[in-house]
Amino acid sequence: MNAQQPAGPDVRRARVTVLANHKGGVGKTFLLMVMAAELAMRGFKILVVDLDPQGNASRRLGYAEFELENRPTIAEAVAESSPDIARQALLPCQWEPEWAERISLLPSRIELENRVSEAGVPGSWMRLEDALNPLLDDYDHVLIDTQPTLGHLLHLALVLADDVITPAVPEYDAVRGAQRLIDFVGSPKNRRSLGIHATVIGIVLNAKRANVATHEGRVEKAVEQWGDLVWQPALPLRAPLHDTQEFAEPPHTATGEAGTVIRQAAKTLVDRYLGKAA
Ligand SMILES: Nc1ncnc2c1ncn2[C@@H]1O[C@H](COP(=O)(O)OP(=O)(O)OP(=O)(O)O)[C@@H](O)[C@H]1O
Ligand SMILES: [Mg+2]
Repeated sequence: MNAQQPAGPDVRRARVTVLANHKGGVGKTFLLMVMAAELAMRGFKILVVDLDPQGNASRRLGYAEFELENRPTIAEAVAESSPDIARQALLPCQWEPEWAERISLLPSRIELENRVSEAGVPGSWMRLEDALNPLLDDYDHVLIDTQPTLGHLLHLALVLADDVITPAVPEYDAVRGAQRLIDFVGSPKNRRSLGIHATVIGIVLNAKRANVATHEGRVEKAVEQWGDLVWQPALPLRAPLHDTQEFAEPPHTATGEAGTVIRQAAKTLVDRYLGKAA
């Protein structure tokens, strides 16, 4: 059940959140892993939709590229606007059961690139919504990972989504990428002509380096620019966090101080996401 909606048999529909930034490598997939892990630990049922042809979220939830060949993925579900294919494509998360039993994956592979050239086909922008709408009742939260573009695949995600969260490294180019994404989502013309209802609810600064003046300065400027839209805390850059992604493990399992920091940060960020922030 959506934690922000009243309980009841007819109102169960997952809350759909897209992680997006026009800039690449800023931690979109990483933050998605943080959120999925934290929400699963709190008992929510999560669907991770990998809408990035790179398949990074799929790999980090346990599936190498070769394991996704010759089976349905989100690419085929979108091609046919098909809830049946989407259901066939579902895979269990391969993390430890503590997390995995509440996380499902709609995996992606390179074939998804071929959906982009179909953007001009009438109605093509509704394909993800048509494929996934019937599945939404089975989950509390759907988290969609995207590639760093403002193109057709992002459009598909925004048509389905309720919310957008924008991760950004506290550096000039990433902050500009976040602003372009915010402008794209908020543009009245885009919202009307592209059928977008989602709104940007948060900016999460990630990979912040300690004792780097430019990073400190960018965090301050981001708060000046976007105010309360910047969710605290910024996530630190730490090698053990990177290692969890390399080895396809939940960020919460990071060793040492990095683990303590990310577990606390995940709590605070997800409280904010669930509307429980102080
Ligand atoms: N806070 C962090 N500390 C250490 N490493 C991090 C952190 N956040 C992300 N990384 C690492 O930085 C790299 C980029 O992160 P990630 O893949 O999540 O970014 P992305 O925005 O999803 O990239 P893309 O645009 O290619 O999809 C990865 O190797 C990831 O493990
Ligand atoms: Mg990514």
